[in-house]
Amino acid sequence: MLQRMHRRYHVQTFGCQMNVHDSERMKGLLESLGLGEAADPADADVLVFNTCTIRERADDRFVAHLMEARAAKQRDPEKAIVVGGCWSESMKDELFETYPFVDLAFGPGHISKLAEFIGAGGDVARGHFSTFDEFSGHLPLKRERPHQAWLQISQGCNSKCSYCIVPAVRGREQSRRAADLIAEATSLAADGVVELTLLGQNVNSWGRDLPPDERIGFGGLLRALDSVEGIERIRFTSPHPKDMRDDVISAMADCPAVCEHLHLPLQSGSTRILKAMRRTYSRDRYLELVGRIRASVHGIALTTDIIVGFPGETEGDFAETMEVVDQVGYDHAYTFVYSPRRGTEAAAMAGQVDEATKRDRITRLVDLVQQHAQRRNRELVGTVQEVLIEGPSRTDAAVLRGRTRGNKTALVRGDAAAGSLVGVLIEGATSQTLTGRLAPAAVPA
Ligand code: SAH
Ligand code: SF4
Ligand code: F3S
Repeated sequence: MLQRMHRRYHVQTFGCQMNVHDSERMKGLLESLGLGEAADPADADVLVFNTCTIRERADDRFVAHLMEARAAKQRDPEKAIVVGGCWSESMKDELFETYPFVDLAFGPGHISKLAEFIGAGGDVARGHFSTFDEFSGHLPLKRERPHQAWLQISQGCNSKCSYCIVPAVRGREQSRRAADLIAEATSLAADGVVELTLLGQNVNSWGRDLPPDERIGFGGLLRALDSVEGIERIRFTSPHPKDMRDDVISAMADCPAVCEHLHLPLQSGSTRILKAMRRTYSRDRYLELVGRIRASVHGIALTTDIIVGFPGETEGDFAETMEVVDQVGYDHAYTFVYSPRRGTEAAAMAGQVDEATKRDRITRLVDLVQQHAQRRNRELVGTVQEVLIEGPSRTDAAVLRGRTRGNKTALVRGDAAAGSLVGVLIEGATSQTLTGRLAPAAVPA
């Protein structure tokens, strides 16, 4: 039977950095099958969605896009609709019942199967597959940024945070071998990458499932990657406070490439709520950890994730979260309204908080977070910061955009090539960005 060849694809990504990176693999794989990228989904023969299901809002947003895709397919029945990622996994076979116009669906661990179901030339076979089975580290990669790269060090999560759907959709934790990671980092460096961001749901528990003679720990992995020539910056996301041991902190302090930035999810400042969340640390242990990190890594920028309105959260619990935010003084925080997820422990808990209270709390929290972000950024005015130049600013081509080691966006006046590390004299700061100009002399390495 003769079918139209599907020549062009479009991948739309939702969710976290994991998905952003997985999409790079999907694009690489589709191109290796001979498909080209369409900038506009309207021009694509294969519409791929890489989905997220972390909060209800993520689901709603995606379903709206899916309905648009259905409309496009009604106009052009030859279009193929492919749904990958976490939402897909959470729906399993129900997906085809509810959305019969979807041609192909797969969970986050099954990117390589795209090649089995999408033949050379782009014919899409109908099928469904879901459970995680392998890493995508060996798959072709289409990187979006020339000088920065993701390095996936593990997949899945063994924690049981009572609000979280991730373990259900991404499976048990599996670590990649250090030798494979060093080889990938080395080849990325040879390809012009200077900054690596290590990815995992719980990066600092990396390696516990490896053979005993390969268990060098996350601190050991940081040290090994630090010595890869050409890699000038290393970041990682996300570490879990429970696994933030001294070997990791000392590796951060010792390794020149490891950036002075740590994303340390708090979730709540109330020990009682932390317990109900099954985070396995208390408010005091978290604060004590922050103290140790700050003492070892001078000037470190701290960022976090916070949830408000977890079941049973009282005004008093919320006040404790505000206190911790004040005490730590984060450089930035991602704040979320608790969203019940099907099948998670917390979704069935008594004491669900009403929407108005959640809204009120998040507004107050965002205010406080912004005050601290602005204060922390203003403290940098007058200092020289190392900035990795990413390219021209989106709004003004005469201004360069880049990032400091503390992961702050910097808008820079002056001339420097993308991919270069330059010293920037910081002259202004808002809660979101720094502004400055190239410093006369290079920062010493
Ligand atoms: N593995 C990472 C990221 C998990 S998802 C980590 O543990 O840090 C990113 C953030 O989404 C979480 O840190 C949490 O703050 C938030 N989140 C997860 N589930 C949520 C839910 N059901 N409702 C609201 N926020 C949630
Ligand atoms: Fe979810 Fe907790 Fe695992 Fe993070 S550590 S992915 S919040 S279960
Ligand atoms: Fe979303 Fe999956 Fe990431 S649920 S936040 S895309 S791990």
